[in-house]
Amino acid sequence: MAKQLTLEHITVLAGTQPLVRDVSLSVRSGEIVALIGASGSGKSLTCSAALGVLSHGLQMTQGRILLDHQAMQPDELRGHVVSTIMQNPRSAFNPVHTMLQHGIETLRITTSARQTTAQDTIVQAMREAGLENPETLLKLYPHEMSGGMLQRMMIALTMLSHAPFLFADEPTTDLDLVMQARILELLHSLIQQQKLGMLLVTHDMGVVARLAHRVMVMSHGEIIEHASVEEIFTNPQHAVTRELVNAHLSLYDMELTNDMEFA
Ligand SMILES: Nc1ncnc2c1ncn2[C@@H]1O[C@H](COP(=O)(O)OP(=O)(O)OP(=O)(O)O)[C@@H](O)[C@H]1O
Ligand SMILES: [Mg+2]
Repeated sequence: MAKQLTLEHITVLAGTQPLVRDVSLSVRSGEIVALIGASGSGKSLTCSAALGVLSHGLQMTQGRILLDHQAMQPDELRGHVVSTIMQNPRSAFNPVHTMLQHGIETLRITTSARQTTAQDTIVQAMREAGLENPETLLKLYPHEMSGGMLQRMMIALTMLSHAPFLFADEPTTDLDLVMQARILELLHSLIQQQKLGMLLVTHDMGVVARLAHRVMVMSHGEIIEHASVEEIFTNPQHAVTRELVNAHLSLYDMELTNDMEFA
C-alpha cells in the first residue's frame, strides 16, 4: 500500500492573480495532517488543484503530486488513491445518479463486486457512516438528500473506495453536534484501522487538537507555519496561528501563555 502522498510547489492562478502560492505538503499513511487558516486562505483550492478539479477560470501553473516519490496525474489520484469529502457535498454528486449508482460506481473502481453483493456492501458502509434506512436512501437522487446526509454518504463512499488517502474538507460542517462527534470518531477509526492518510481541512481547532498529528497553517495562499499539533497549541510562531489558537482558547476563557501545558 502507498505510504506517502506529497504535494509539491502547488501554485494556482485566476488570470494573473495568485490564489495559492508554492504550497508543499505531505501526508503519510496512518497520519492526520490538518490544513488550517482563515476563510479564503486557499485551503480548498489547494485540494482541488491536487485532484485536478479546479473550477473554470482557475489554473494550476506550477506543482506536482507524488505518490511514494513517483509523479502522478490528478486523474490517476481521484477515487483510486485519494477519496474526498468536499466542503460542498452537493457538487460532488452526479445529479442524475441515485445513491445506489454512486455506490456501485465507487465500488467498480476498486473491486469487481456483482450488483447483488454490492448493494449489501453499500448498505453496510452507509450504516457505519450514520445513515438510517440506507435501503430507502439508495433510491434517492442528490437533490432529495439533505447536506448532512450527503456528507455522510461521501464518508460511506470513502469507506467503499479503499483509497489509501483521504482529503476531508470541512467534513462535518453540515452536521449537528452529535453527528459531528460520531463522524469524527468514524474518520479517526478509519485512519487507525485502515491506515489511511488524511488531509483534514478545518476551522475547528478543537477537532485539530483531538485528531491531527501535524498542522499546516495557510494565509493568503501560502503555508506560513508547519508544526506538530503540540507545538501549534503551545508555541505558535506566526501571528495568524496565534490568533487561531487564541480564538479557540477564548471559547474556554483561556489565553496563550508562555508555559502552557498541552492537554
Ligand atoms: N473560481 C474562482 N475564481 C476566482 N477566485 C476564486 C475562485 N475560487 C476561489 N477563489 C478565491 O481563492 C481564494 C481561496 O479560496 P479557497 O476556497 O481555497 O479558500 P478556503 O481557504 O478554502 O476558505 P474557506 O475556509 O472559507 O473554505 C479566495 O480568495 C477565493 O475568493
Ligand atoms: Mg474551503
